[in-house]
Amino acid sequence: MNCIQLIIKKGIIALFLFCFLPVLLPAQPALQNVYNRKTSSLNGQWHYIVDPYETGYYNYRYQPYDVVDKASTSAFYNNYHAKNKQELVEYDFNRSPKMQVPGDWNSQKENLFYYEGTIWLKRSFQYPLLKKGSRLLLHFGAVNYRAEVYLNGHKLGIHEGGFTSFDFDVTPYLNTDSNFLVVKADNRRIKDGVPGINTDWFNYGGITRDVTLVETPDIYIRDYALQLARGNAHKIAGYVQLNRFASNSPVQVDIPELGVRTQFATDSTGRAAFEIDVDSIRYWSTEQPVLYNCTIRTNREELKDRIGFRTIETAGQDILLNGKPVLLKGISMHEENSAKGSRANSRAEAVESLSRAKQLGCNYVRLAHYPHNEYMVQVADSMGMMVWDEIPVYWTIDFSNPRVLRNAAAQLSEMISRDKNRASVIIWSVANETPPTSERNYFLLQLIRQARLQDATRLVSAALEQHTGNSGVHMVNDSIGQHLDIVAFNQYTGWYGGSLKDAPNMKWEIGYHKPVVISEFGGDAKYGLHGTKEERWTEEYQEYLYEQNLKMIMKIPGVRGMSPWILADFRSPKRLLPGVQDGWNRKGLLTGDGKKKKAYFTLRNFYTNWTLKN
Ligand code: GCU
Repeated sequence: MNCIQLIIKKGIIALFLFCFLPVLLPAQPALQNVYNRKTSSLNGQWHYIVDPYETGYYNYRYQPYDVVDKASTSAFYNNYHAKNKQELVEYDFNRSPKMQVPGDWNSQKENLFYYEGTIWLKRSFQYPLLKKGSRLLLHFGAVNYRAEVYLNGHKLGIHEGGFTSFDFDVTPYLNTDSNFLVVKADNRRIKDGVPGINTDWFNYGGITRDVTLVETPDIYIRDYALQLARGNAHKIAGYVQLNRFASNSPVQVDIPELGVRTQFATDSTGRAAFEIDVDSIRYWSTEQPVLYNCTIRTNREELKDRIGFRTIETAGQDILLNGKPVLLKGISMHEENSAKGSRANSRAEAVESLSRAKQLGCNYVRLAHYPHNEYMVQVADSMGMMVWDEIPVYWTIDFSNPRVLRNAAAQLSEMISRDKNRASVIIWSVANETPPTSERNYFLLQLIRQARLQDATRLVSAALEQHTGNSGVHMVNDSIGQHLDIVAFNQYTGWYGGSLKDAPNMKWEIGYHKPVVISEFGGDAKYGLHGTKEERWTEEYQEYLYEQNLKMIMKIPGVRGMSPWILADFRSPKRLLPGVQDGWNRKGLLTGDGKKKKAYFTLRNFYTNWTLKN
């Protein structure tokens, strides 16, 4: 073989590895169940430096940026202060302004409203001397979009993806007195990002979710799963994963109300996989969201969680919750405090938005278009609300780029890893409105396969698009549908085309004998703007749009759910009609501060009467 042939051969091997590696080696599992561990919060006021020219790196005049130099007096991650009146230092965190963490910078500082770029954030903290045999982890709920994290000048690592959690073991880098933590957050939209550069939501940047220190034993419970085995309502299948290889470590699982108290031993990889037969169990459901007190113990640690057990499957065109057909009476929502126009990130905000969905008559929510904060799925568990959980593979990302696939696969892995013990989560969604090209089909198929590998107990779907065939029939026959459990699609009859008057007589053809969910429909209305049902932007138009779409949807074969777009008006830089949108997408049934538009009552009334019989 000559050298050309050798180079080609190596190239093909490298390409193969890039392509398949993402689905073979999911990212390190997220640290499971942070909130029930021994934690200290680093939330609060952090100093920040706006750095649009990337000045904060060590050798900002030269590439590459990722040279870390602890001696550098110019690198922001060293938090350096001039030692005398001669020394040249052109930054100082302690004399810089502060912002609240967690919190997006756009809604906190008027001069940062549209800022897209780098901001360095810093806070100091003290931590008591760790006992021998203990570790300290630093956990982030999310940083949008790309984070670089430094502790006392050491680069801990980076994370890409604005909506999933990540953590670092900081034990070796702790100072006995004071520590300084520096985070470089960069919310630039990038062509090879996930999402890409074009989204219909506001690009809130910053440390947008909780920052937490977590103290653990040296060998600790890194991850665990406790859910009913797929298709077996009397068997809990699960595992406990320690943070490192440790064979024959005893692991105990207790579920007192189920009379479960059982012990296992880890294998050489520190993992104990098990099945537990359970006879009489009260299943989690939307009417009775039963959660069981579960305790996982090792000889060094005890971790408590409250977990619901249920089955979710499909049979023909039915969705079965605990073996019974169910309708998904839903609504879509963004992760936004619409009253403030900011990223939502607290338990109180989760309770408010899910309570609003409950009042609307929903038993299901579509968390669009990215994993929401962990409080949302915890509250959905206790409230009895089923959840569609989605990664931001949105519109036209770069489907032909292996790096983008690795990124999407990592975000999918992190989403599933974090939420896999939440009974409320019934659907993993791998995409929203993506063009059905061959690259995209390959890309999504990898993600679907990964989702099924990582979690065989839940349904997999994606929000597809419909198109009108020659005969005027509306078709949903996207080839990726053959790999999905639920055929979900967005349609905007009466808003982006089509006649509302004729809508109830429109013909639909769904290419698969599977449950059908209308993942989006809707139209804008400015609250308080009134007119005739023919006048776009009025509440009457939106009301008529809902009336006509609901009549049409009821005639689509196999419809078992819907999540109209959207619960509340939300910020979008794409929505600019003065006096009507003003930077907001007005498809909400509620205004940001919760006022109900007329269409709200149309949908609530529909959900009150919608049954599997009609
Ligand atoms: C799209 C998309 C949403 C968007 C909505 C709209 O289908 O999925 O993210 O906000 O429709 O146009 O308002």
